[in-house]
Amino acid sequence: MQQLQDKHLVKPFSYINGSWHSSESSFVVTNPANGEEIVKVSDAGIAETELAVKAAKDALKSWSAKSANERATLLRNWFNLMMQHQDDLGRILTSEQGKPLSEAKGEIAYGAAFIEWFAEEGKRVYGDTIPAPANDKRIVVIKQPVGVVASITPWNFPNAMIARKAAAALAAGCTFVVRPATQTPLSALAMAELAERAGIPAGVFNVVVGTDARGIGEVLTQHPDVAKFTFTGSTGVGKSLIAQCASTVKKVSMELGGNAPFIVFDDADIDAAVQGAMTSKYRNAGQTCVCTNRIFVQQGVLAEFTEKFTAAVADLSIGNGLHDGVNVGPMISATAVADVDKLVRASIAAGATLVLGGEGHAQGNNFYLPTILTNVTNDMPIASNEIFGPVSPIIPFADEDEVLAMANDTEYGLAAYFYTRDIGRVWRVGEGLEFGMVGINEGIISNAAAPFGGVKQSGNGREGSKYGLDDYMEIKYLCMGGIDK
Ligand code: SIN
Repeated sequence: MQQLQDKHLVKPFSYINGSWHSSESSFVVTNPANGEEIVKVSDAGIAETELAVKAAKDALKSWSAKSANERATLLRNWFNLMMQHQDDLGRILTSEQGKPLSEAKGEIAYGAAFIEWFAEEGKRVYGDTIPAPANDKRIVVIKQPVGVVASITPWNFPNAMIARKAAAALAAGCTFVVRPATQTPLSALAMAELAERAGIPAGVFNVVVGTDARGIGEVLTQHPDVAKFTFTGSTGVGKSLIAQCASTVKKVSMELGGNAPFIVFDDADIDAAVQGAMTSKYRNAGQTCVCTNRIFVQQGVLAEFTEKFTAAVADLSIGNGLHDGVNVGPMISATAVADVDKLVRASIAAGATLVLGGEGHAQGNNFYLPTILTNVTNDMPIASNEIFGPVSPIIPFADEDEVLAMANDTEYGLAAYFYTRDIGRVWRVGEGLEFGMVGINEGIISNAAAPFGGVKQSGNGREGSKYGLDDYMEIKYLCMGGIDK
């Protein structure tokens, strides 16, 4: 943090109605790489969350009345400021979250890209005219902002998960309240500082930081002035939040857990598949919802793929994300490490073979070595659970039908990947995978232009892309009569 060019980006308070809001108690934000305290942050609770919802409600009328162009100008200012401060924002992010600095800077650009995208997309909210069933009537459809949007966002992408929700909400004319994860509030608060510098009016973007997850969550999901709730996180928590939203029938969008299959067919370019699996699996130490969770390899290329993949994984450099050359940082906590290790142990007990890793690292309790297991079956704990850590289970398969059945045999449906050079198979498998997003000969699929989201218990709604505004808009039908003379 000493190396920041702009130290004012580190804020230890919630941002409500355009002001920094201190509370009586505070909590400590630590660097997961070494456990060092970064800063103490004011611990906001129910009262502050209610204030933030009120601020968002009060700001709604004037923000939604602005033209799309006016909102676009302010969003573009915000985008520009985020990119100007990319280095500092990346450093703050790595310090509180752990991912390597180059990845953190990549996340800042990824988050900013949503702000730029929706600044433009907000200008293209088109309505419709519909031929009426009678001559004296006209039917017109307009789209209007939903209202106040509340959200809860995770620690694995402390910037981008806020940016892709807030940018769509603000571009649509909604106002926004977010509770970021308590492990990573500083990235959210730095975004608020830049939103203010960008000229985004008080009350439009509010950040409530507090450890009372239940109390704050209940306000955000049950307050009658909140029209829409959006969450990124685990499927278990998502289900409870959806239930809480039922009492006021909120519009809801959820980006939940995943169990991504990564399929390598006999005809694949094996080097490309190894590369794709590396980026898809080990990005963010395996802590993303779209991370490869199960690697299925066809028998004919099993030995070649496993050998090349193992060599690449063994080459990864593990350490503090702020240090040069590090590819894999710490996990978010020692509990997260223990959860992953439990899945590994249980799967070895069930017959899997440990090829690499499978233990902690001298760097400290939050580190887990990049791990490979072979002889895995689809029903072992490491394959049937979302791992959320740097472990690759390799599962052999014989043919297309078998692998499609195994890949789809999960309650999740977020991302899937497969590698093949057979054009017919590209279509058959692409269409047959029951997932919201499919990477074909590609391990990285996330970007602002594409619709991010899942099916089954991985959630609903889409973020980014031309579809991303729909979740923040209501369709209204105007029926005009009395047109005949
Ligand atoms: C997530 O893990 O929830 C998001 C990953 C991404 O946007 O690529």
